[in-house]
Amino acid sequence: MRKDIRYNEVIDGAEFERAQAAADNSANLPEHLINPEKFYVTQHWDRYTQENHEVWATLVARRMESLGSQASEVFLNGVRLLGFDQLQVPRLENVNAKLGPLTGWQSRGVPGYLPAKSFFACLAKREFPTTIVIRPQELLEYLPEPDIFHDVFGHVPLHADPVFADFLQTYGKAALHTNNPNHIERLARLFWFTVEFGLIRENGQTKLYGSGLISSLGESFHALESANVDRRPFDLDRVCDTPFEIDHYQPILYELECFEQLRDGMSEYAERVLNEAGVAA
Ligand SMILES: [Fe+2]
Repeated sequence: MRKDIRYNEVIDGAEFERAQAAADNSANLPEHLINPEKFYVTQHWDRYTQENHEVWATLVARRMESLGSQASEVFLNGVRLLGFDQLQVPRLENVNAKLGPLTGWQSRGVPGYLPAKSFFACLAKREFPTTIVIRPQELLEYLPEPDIFHDVFGHVPLHADPVFADFLQTYGKAALHTNNPNHIERLARLFWFTVEFGLIRENGQTKLYGSGLISSLGESFHALESANVDRRPFDLDRVCDTPFEIDHYQPILYELECFEQLRDGMSEYAERVLNEAGVAA
């Protein structure tokens, strides 16, 4: 039987229950009353086991072998700036000490999945809800839910880039404040095809930056090399009109020309969404 990795020694049980309940209850609150501070949990770093550190070290070593040629320079630069310990699960406080001065973003520990509005409320404050548990050895290859490898190794290096950092906060504000089902669906697609599965063109080559591709060995090769992937030039409206499917390798991916294209497209879209919602951009 699979271990339930939500409950893990690194999170205090009572704190876990309190934070998850606060996040779940926030789904029913007006946006201005959502307080992300209540969702966050302490990373009891000294409670990670030897197995936990070995899983981190194995995953990082295995991905870095190919990411040097596969990943966007912006991602690789973020990895250099944050200086992860390759052998041990990172301490969020150390990551944040380097990240804060660069872009003002912070990674904050959360108990697990947050409801959409709670998640967006964090992004709107430049805080990234970060899963702090790590997959067990027997699920090294594939884990359906995020863990600290997906969240910190896969997502956080891009938060060190000022352009991507601004995009993600603007995205969070728009997604937090809209209750229009059409925008909600379109914004979910935008997140999927950029933050999770985005490609970018750099020096005439296709590179990865989406965390779902960065953190997955198998899908990274599929995304870059398979003849079965339709790689389309990024166009924000077209991305927002494209439905996505989960649970298998992505047949459609979108390729940015540069991160400014994403930031500027998002700013325009957010202005429309926030105007409609009656909120100042
Ligand atoms: Fe993710």
